Amino acid sequence: MISDRTSGSPVENLISLPLEPLLTRDYETDPALVHERLRAMYGPVAPVDLLGVPVWFASGYDEVLHVMQNHGDVWSKRVDNWRAYAEGRVPADWPLLSLMAADNSGFHDGDRHRRLRGVWDEGLRPFQTTGSGQALRLERAMLRFCDDLIGVITEDGPSGQMDLVVQYGRPFPLLVANHLLGVALERGEEMVADHWRLLDGPDSAGAYQRLYAALLELATLKRHRRGDDLPSHMLDADASLTDEELARELLMLAGFLDFTGSLICNVIVEVVTNPGMRETVSVGAIEETVNRVALLNPALANLTFRYARTDVRLGRFVIAAGDPVMLSVSGAHADPRFASALRDTIRSTRAHLAWGAGPHRCPSRRLATQMATIAVRRLLDRFSSLQLAVPADRLSWRPSPFIRTPRSLPVAYRLDQSSVPAPGPRQEAGAGPSPAAEDGGDARPRPGLLAFLRKLRRRQ
Ligand code: HEM
Repeated sequence: MISDRTSGSPVENLISLPLEPLLTRDYETDPALVHERLRAMYGPVAPVDLLGVPVWFASGYDEVLHVMQNHGDVWSKRVDNWRAYAEGRVPADWPLLSLMAADNSGFHDGDRHRRLRGVWDEGLRPFQTTGSGQALRLERAMLRFCDDLIGVITEDGPSGQMDLVVQYGRPFPLLVANHLLGVALERGEEMVADHWRLLDGPDSAGAYQRLYAALLELATLKRHRRGDDLPSHMLDADASLTDEELARELLMLAGFLDFTGSLICNVIVEVVTNPGMRETVSVGAIEETVNRVALLNPALANLTFRYARTDVRLGRFVIAAGDPVMLSVSGAHADPRFASALRDTIRSTRAHLAWGAGPHRCPSRRLATQMATIAVRRLLDRFSSLQLAVPADRLSWRPSPFIRTPRSLPVAYRLDQSSVPAPGPRQEAGAGPSPAAEDGGDARPRPGLLAFLRKLRRRQ
């Protein structure tokens, strides 16, 4: 053990500590139980085993916020600063390695991070500016996507049972992705399947390659033929951005939209298990519910690693230079110190970390919140009854190191017949480009979309 010159406390050697496996049955069923056990044994930072690799797990609110905000000098997101990785002690087939080693803004520091991050800020700006043409078209397209999904769900009749994860929460962001990317749907379907594999394994490396190839093709297309879409606005933001850089950045998009789908599903759980919510379906109330769920059950529960650049104290330990720290947003929100500050209104519910903080803070929180608000609002507008078809405590949750959301959401429904939108000309098979074209989204034959959505219905 080497002493830490600043505080004289011994620098902990992660691999010599007893490590608790993090991703256990308990963690899948109720992560809060595991967080509390780790907090009781080790305080706000604990040594854990993550799929066979030792990491520090930070679940203290102040500690997580500190690491997020003190990025760059002490904390790095570059995998090269992970001592075990640099010394070849991380297995090449470790399921999360291709994600941690990704070469995009999410995993860079300093100038390189600022440059790539700037491209996102500028690329997303038109879609997040209230009243802009892009934002209004996107909002209209989102409403149409919700109605398309509901149309397919209720094709067999105004009442029945559906799986709101497979048939609504997860496909909705896929349709928004196609609108933002300006790509055709069929290409989108394969991209979602590969994205699930990228985040949850297995074959995350294969999924990474396939997604990258699809996005590289798109980047080259947009370089030569701009559209009113995200890739084009990102290219306009920085002329030096290469097709490869853009493709690597866009590779993250599918992931973020999966977080959004997960947030939507978590809000739906909140709404269908609290019938009182139905009375207050105003946008404001739903947006507040989205914020509350981001606090109580954050979709992105744990974040990718930070690596200590120097020996540094965090919680009760001095972390050795080169050690990885996994930041737990859901653990931080359950930190009794934060929870009591909330209760005593010392902190507002907006002080949560669901969108991160510091230089890597989410640049798309407005868009993601709007997507969740519109998707949930439309569901409550269109259905007069939504009942969970299983007891809430029997819901099964996706086994993921990062995401917290139900695997499926069986719900018995009754359509509000007065809410069915009037069919438009766009429904005609073989018809020319439909009014949807003016939405800038993929307006080619709607039958393709319907076929894709029906396939989802058969999956449940
Ligand atoms: C519910 C949905 C979402 C959640 C919970 C979420 C949350 C987050 C969080 C916590 C981070 C910081 C990660 C870190 O510090 O390691 C982040 C970063 C980021 N998010 Fe989001 N996000 C969501 C949706 C989106 C969407 C829809 C987009 C794009 C359209 C997006 C784009 C980004 C980008 C580009 C970064 C990286 C920023 C950087 O590293 O500087 N996110 N997001």
